Amino acid sequence: MKYRKLANTDLLLSEVTFGAWAAGGWMWGGTERKDAIDAIRVSYSLGVTSIDTAPIYGQGTSEEIVGEAIKGLQRDRVQILTKYGMRWDLKKGDFAFNSKKNSGENIDIYKYAGKESIIKECEDSLKRLGTDYIDLYQIHWPDSTTPIEESMEAVSRLIEQGKVRYAGVCNYDAAQMAEAEKYITLVSDQVPYSMVNRGIEAELIPHCLENNKSILAYSPLERGLLTGKIRPGHLFAPGDHRKDVKFFKEENLRRTDEFLDLLKPLAAEKHLTLGQLVILWTLQQPGITITLVGARNSEQAIENAKAIDSSLSKEEIATITDYLEQLELTV
Ligand SMILES: NC(=O)c1ccc[n+]([C@@H]2O[C@H](COP(=O)([O-])OP(=O)(O)OC[C@H]3O[C@@H](n4cnc5c(N)ncnc54)[C@H](OP(=O)(O)O)[C@@H]3O)[C@@H](O)[C@H]2O)c1
Repeated sequence: MKYRKLANTDLLLSEVTFGAWAAGGWMWGGTERKDAIDAIRVSYSLGVTSIDTAPIYGQGTSEEIVGEAIKGLQRDRVQILTKYGMRWDLKKGDFAFNSKKNSGENIDIYKYAGKESIIKECEDSLKRLGTDYIDLYQIHWPDSTTPIEESMEAVSRLIEQGKVRYAGVCNYDAAQMAEAEKYITLVSDQVPYSMVNRGIEAELIPHCLENNKSILAYSPLERGLLTGKIRPGHLFAPGDHRKDVKFFKEENLRRTDEFLDLLKPLAAEKHLTLGQLVILWTLQQPGITITLVGARNSEQAIENAKAIDSSLSKEEIATITDYLEQLELTV
């Protein structure tokens, strides 16, 4: 495994950081708890020391699973990244969505990052994770009903109390980051970035490079799509949100499949799976600090972690990027 520093901190994260959303099962058609715990433990044994989770993932389940998986490990050898600001048990803030369509469960989710709410969420997360501090604490989504100042001041208090080491954000644009920076030092923005989802290249990446902020790229495998296993005609399990996501529309599956065919000879030549090639390409893009990669079981986790045993040359990266130019997805 290789490690990279977040911004100008002493916080080193593994290039493949374990993403524990699917581990919570919610919106992914369920997950076996034991498989998720095994996946985190085997990842750790391969050097994946950083884990990203959130209270909303399974409404506490993902954080509990992470807590169980890291029990007994030396705390300062693990980096815990979690979030606040998505409430399922309080109807306040911006209504985000009802999860019936995405998971089968009829839950109203709100984006809310008021001060008291953050303080309570942090206490709950610490309990579920079985720890007394969080390495990186991130707002999950912007909340238009609370001034950014209020949210960041709450996180500053948590840092003063030693419950949080560093503040980050997720899904913030450059202007929201600049506003937050008036009240706190941000170290990172966690945003979607994959070969087929490169929207942040225009504005956010230049902003972060200029201001020395780290970008944590989420869904780098585009939720499994770029492993090549989700092909035209694919049927998702009940409760799997991907069936309604644009990347998984039949026409996009067909086009992505053709693109992935172009990558196969290079992957074979380098003894890599498509997913490993995709992770390596993502990590070499300007401004990307680490990849947050989800895994539902040990097999996937091992494959993802082992990507880092290899590397891509500048020429290989350029070849892949050229192939990408030919890929156009429908909306
Ligand atoms: N801040 C935010 O708003 C936000 C949003 C999304 C994600 N995230 C974070 O980013 C993490 C990663 O994103 P993600 O889970 O959405 O997407 P991802 O990492 O692109 O894809 C993960 C999924 O791909 C499949 N997969 C993974 N490794 C595989 C392998 N080696 N072979 C075959 N299939 C494999 C698994 O699903 P199947 O086996 O079911 O196909 C897995 O759940 C999340 O866990 C979360 O921590 C944050």
